[in-house]
Amino acid sequence: MIGEHARELSAKLQAHRLQLFPPSARKTLRKFTSGEAARLIGVNDGYLRHLSLEGKGPQPEIGPNGRRSYTIEDIHALRAYLAESGKADRRYLPRRQGDEHLQVVTVVNFKGGSGKTTTAAHLAQYLALNGYRVLAVDLDPQASLSALHGYQPEFDIGENETLYGAIRYDGERRPLAEIIRPTYFPGLDLVPGNIELMEFEHETPKALADGAGAESLFFTRMDEALASVADNYDVVVVDCPPQLGFLTLSALCAATAVLVTVHPQMLDVMSMCQFLIMTSDLLSVVAEAGGNMRYDWMRYLITRYEPGDGPQNQMVSFMRSMFGEHVLNFPMLKSTAIADAGITKQTLYEVSREQFTRATYDRALEAMNNVNSEIEGLIRKAWGRA
Ligand SMILES: Nc1ncnc2c1ncn2[C@@H]1O[C@H](COP(=O)(O)OP(=O)(O)OP(=O)(O)O)[C@@H](O)[C@H]1O
Ligand SMILES: [Mg+2]
Repeated sequence: MIGEHARELSAKLQAHRLQLFPPSARKTLRKFTSGEAARLIGVNDGYLRHLSLEGKGPQPEIGPNGRRSYTIEDIHALRAYLAESGKADRRYLPRRQGDEHLQVVTVVNFKGGSGKTTTAAHLAQYLALNGYRVLAVDLDPQASLSALHGYQPEFDIGENETLYGAIRYDGERRPLAEIIRPTYFPGLDLVPGNIELMEFEHETPKALADGAGAESLFFTRMDEALASVADNYDVVVVDCPPQLGFLTLSALCAATAVLVTVHPQMLDVMSMCQFLIMTSDLLSVVAEAGGNMRYDWMRYLITRYEPGDGPQNQMVSFMRSMFGEHVLNFPMLKSTAIADAGITKQTLYEVSREQFTRATYDRALEAMNNVNSEIEGLIRKAWGRA
């Protein structure tokens, strides 16, 4: 009976998606107004208009109302055009160069619903919109990050098509490059997840017991898989499952930076305390076994924050006084714009302003951009940039 329910549900979900994203059930990315494009590139709108009037660089689409809009491909092409005319100006093409190393940002906490997937999705999309080459990795068997990017885990993702395929212990292991998929977001690729990832939790204890896979221990496998595709990316963003298993540990070992999402409420903070204790114990075992545990940075991100809520404010002050600079300056505000966008499997960066009460949308987007730009700053600092 459960099997029947599963098949029925999967078909219904597929039909729902067809309805949301006709005609192919595939998501596509909206166009951006010239104002949005200008902000993303870091020039003023007048300058873009000037370029388009002179017929220079990629041209916008002009709507019936005379409004200019750009696809994200156009925006990336504009970056390349501006960088070229400005003698490879780094401002427009922020990709890593020289010995700047791949950044692997792991988003963790074993508390369910602390905002990991929302944070990972928005960070990955923000970085892609801003001209970085990004790989998002869905390590959660529940595959919410994949669903947000248009993939229905039991329908679109087949056997050996998750990260598990690249880190498994048997002869079926395959290169990560074969598993990576493009998304409808230019500049953002995805390693999708589904329930198959659970295999790694089951197989790792066996491999540890019978000494199989000794040529590369469990905690180095993900690191090696990512290293095999490092040349194609600037930043990898990893969305972890809400438990501290071998997948999460692997992600912590592959990370160059760690972001712990925390909702500022007593029970959540108490749960995080346990998570930190367990993590530090486990990581010191891994470090003794030769794992590399050095991070460029580690930060707590306050999520779903309600500024008017007294107890939440107390919790935030408590965390700031204890962890100091390790708490990001900008919290992510709780917003119906994010929750509503999530209902149609979208992020704030995908929906357009007209779909919302303007003030609600603007406030949410400002908070989200502040958080992501602070993280971008940490990434650039890790690369030794100003
Ligand atoms: N800033 C926010 N404002 C409003 N709703 C939010 C916000 N952040 C997250 N949510 C909502 O809270 C829910 C949980 O968020 P999310 O899925 O990101 O958490 P998670 O830590 O990934 O959960 P899990 O542990 O199950 O993987 C989602 O429905 C999401 O839309
Ligand atoms: Mg999640």
